[in-house]
Amino acid sequence: MAFQVALSFEDGITRFIDCGPDETVADASYRARINIPLDCRDGACGTCKSLCESGSYDGGDYIDEALTDDEAALGYCLPCQMTPQSDLVLRIPSTSAAARTAAATHTATLTEIARYSASTVGITLDVDDRRALDFLPGQYVNVRVPGTELTRSYSFSTGPHQHQVSFLVRITEGGAMSGYLTDRAEVGDRIDFTGPMGSFYLRELNRPALFLAGGTGLAPLLSMLERLTQAPAPYPVHLIYGVSTDQDLVHLDTLDDYADVIPGFTFDHCVADPASSARNKGYVTGLIDEKALHDGDADVYLCGPPAMVEAVRGHVAALGITPAGFHYEKFAVTAGAGAGAAR
Ligand code: FES
Repeated sequence: MAFQVALSFEDGITRFIDCGPDETVADASYRARINIPLDCRDGACGTCKSLCESGSYDGGDYIDEALTDDEAALGYCLPCQMTPQSDLVLRIPSTSAAARTAAATHTATLTEIARYSASTVGITLDVDDRRALDFLPGQYVNVRVPGTELTRSYSFSTGPHQHQVSFLVRITEGGAMSGYLTDRAEVGDRIDFTGPMGSFYLRELNRPALFLAGGTGLAPLLSMLERLTQAPAPYPVHLIYGVSTDQDLVHLDTLDDYADVIPGFTFDHCVADPASSARNKGYVTGLIDEKALHDGDADVYLCGPPAMVEAVRGHVAALGITPAGFHYEKFAVTAGAGAGAAR
């Protein structure tokens, strides 16, 4: 039986390899023609030192000069020595180019266009070779706008185990993807995308989590929640979802469904527009209850436009709380830029 190892590179590109339980991660990487940094291959130099963000493994034999006990306790590991005992996610200390690899390109057919409102559209794709596409919940891909050479970044709103993949698109005046979806898109269109990419992905939940979403920044958090339906964690997860106007609110029914099936999952939402009919008017910061941060023993996952991300960071800092984990992604909101991923 082989385990799946995600190799996350410094440039945001992620490649997935299969690694047997008696095979080192380095051997499996080179078998897959991915040249992760190596020198001694003997646990002596530390050149391959990486950070394991998820999963369990046997660290193998090495000397203190290559990896100290303190580093090992923090999750650092030596791919030239380690063998997996579960699926793993490793942060590799090099770019994908240095490792002589690159993001994969996938081709898909557009199967659904969900026009939630004038501001938000969901698209669903059937990928030609779905087995060749792996991603971590929260990651994004670069989608080529059909009929153009332009690409836009979108985070998956579906989970890695689901056959079809979906994305949320914010419609912006003059936007390339917005124009395509508004004027030309038809079910059956062929669409290419490249990825997966990004370091905004769900780590193993070892403590309570607070999810914060702004607008279509909800997409990667939906993917994480979908993952939690498959691998529930014994910790509470609370999501706060904020939008500008009522028409931007989507997937409240989906969140209700997740609250029914994910133990310990709760959510709330707010709308900034004073004319909104929502119960909570204002910004997500107004709904952050200090208790949800558990005196810092919490992981925060935050995705939204830059102003919202900075406002939340400032708000949490002003509370005098430093969360154990703070993962965020900002997405561009200018006309012509995509939504759902930060570039
Ligand atoms: Fe030297 Fe791994 S390559 S410790």
